[in-house]
Amino acid sequence: MKLFSYAAGILFCLAAGFAQAGERPADIPEGMGVMPSNVPVPADNPMSAAKVELGKKLYFESALSKSGHFSCNSCHNLGTWGVDNQVTSIGHKWQRGGRNAPTVLNSGFWSKQFWDGRAPLLEDQAKGPPLNPVEMALDSEAAAVARLQNAGYSAEFDAVFGKHSISYDNMAKAIAAFERTLNTPDAPFDLYVQGKGDISKAAKRGMKKVAEIGCTSCHAGPLFTNNQFMPFRYGSDEGLKSVTGKDEDDHVFRVQSWRNVAMTAPYFHNGSAQTLAEAVTIMAKVQLDTRLSKRDVRDIVAFLETLTGVVPTITYPQLPRPAGHALDWRE
Ligand code: HEC
Ligand code: HEC
Repeated sequence: MKLFSYAAGILFCLAAGFAQAGERPADIPEGMGVMPSNVPVPADNPMSAAKVELGKKLYFESALSKSGHFSCNSCHNLGTWGVDNQVTSIGHKWQRGGRNAPTVLNSGFWSKQFWDGRAPLLEDQAKGPPLNPVEMALDSEAAAVARLQNAGYSAEFDAVFGKHSISYDNMAKAIAAFERTLNTPDAPFDLYVQGKGDISKAAKRGMKKVAEIGCTSCHAGPLFTNNQFMPFRYGSDEGLKSVTGKDEDDHVFRVQSWRNVAMTAPYFHNGSAQTLAEAVTIMAKVQLDTRLSKRDVRDIVAFLETLTGVVPTITYPQLPRPAGHALDWRE
């Protein structure tokens, strides 16, 4: 019986046209590959299970916003691939910010954070939102720490970072450690590369097309981004120039990854493309001066859909709260 199912398995694989398990199909363009698992970790913020757990609580912690309403998860909802699906995000007092929220999934792999790269590391990035007036709008780092102390976090920080360690910097470190666990392996494309699964004919045509016309000069490697900053002359946002002030950085943005891109609409830094087909068409025109046929667009979208990975299961944490009295959200 065992022998039979083994033989049937082989026959099934042959019939389905799979390469043998472990073997890379020959049609995959050079440079494309399996989603890496070795997220870089800075030397001064080593990972530990306890730190990740604390970071998870802080990620869901609305005490880090002036209104007591917004957490990181409001705009980077882990139930919806780390985004809010808004054109631009809604924050404090229902204000809209100027840019679309990128996903936090796989963000530990990006060379720099934000569309314009203004934060080098996740640790730097996490210090921004609690004090950003259109996001969480707290008045100061001290105000954020006081909120955490009042909620009951002091002992939790001490257990992770040592005695009397509750601080804004350590808050950011814990959040960054949690974010480094939010990686998405095993997309259909990854299984295909490893000879463990197949993707559709349309997706295979799309896979070849993006290499042929040059999308993968920027969306390069297994992460489908070269992690560089490239001009994208589209819309009024100055991108990197708004950080450096240099003319050569005008309309320069970080090349976004294609990992999970099918699940993170709307697209671009200004959220102006509602569909992936539209984003693909605009990219081809603006970046490569290429007009794609309807069929090419469909094929490329089919390929991009094979890059949706498996999101880690997140158990919603119980957050520290003082027993029997309210936290003060009054302004
Ligand atoms: C009100 C909505 C909002 C809240 C709350 C918020 N973010 Fe964001 N986040 C954004 C937007 C919008 C951007 C892009 C801004 C830009 O590039 O200028 C962003 C960018 C990021 C990035 C960069 C990703 C990349 O690909 O470059 C990370 C990481 C991130 N946020 C994590 C967090 C964390 C951690 C928190 C909580 C401490 C948080 N965010 C709170 C809206 C929000
Ligand atoms: C010259 C470099 C370059 C080339 C070539 C290029 N892209 Fe991009 N791509 C970028 C940059 C930079 C961004 C970020 C745009 C922004 O800031 O709004 C991006 C963003 C995208 C997005 C939106 C991602 C998101 O999360 O909003 C998609 C989809 C995309 N590219 C697909 C393609 C396709 C398909 C091709 C080929 C037809 C292509 N790109 C060619 C640089 C490039």
